[in-house]
Amino acid sequence: MIAVGCDHGGYELKVAVLKHLDEKGVQYKDFGTYSSESVDYPVYAEKVAEAVTCGGYELGLLFCGTGIGISIAANKVKGVRAACCSDSFSVEMTRLHNNSNILCLGGRVVSVEKGIELVDLFLSTPFSGDERHQRRIDLVTALEEKNK
Ligand code: RB5
Repeated sequence: MIAVGCDHGGYELKVAVLKHLDEKGVQYKDFGTYSSESVDYPVYAEKVAEAVTCGGYELGLLFCGTGIGISIAANKVKGVRAACCSDSFSVEMTRLHNNSNILCLGGRVVSVEKGIELVDLFLSTPFSGDERHQRRIDLVTALEEKNK
């Protein structure tokens, strides 16, 4: 199950991605926002981040205007590794190397076609499990612990 959220800047892209997920039969929960009326992106970042870290959701998708604000906010939640991407190489690498658990996309940055391509890649790429990458993720977690 995938957790999904957005602010107004990412609303249209989210709607297009959800339509695509429906067509593919991918299960998700949409945590809002549910219109293009202006809202504050940290509210939706928190909902999806907590769904992924302690709500049993496998992965998350977040959308704002740039993907940046909502990724900064999501990364404040312990256990989140949110990646803001706009190209397929970065999306693949962030799953393989960083075991990123939330993908953040900018509705004002990527086209609907590109956004769907990036979402499909994110959801279908596993973590490599390589020792060196796990070691680095563990160091990131230690940094999080030290600065809490
Ligand atoms: C909202 O206008 C915009 O600032 C937001 O969607 C996002 O791009 C922030 O990083």
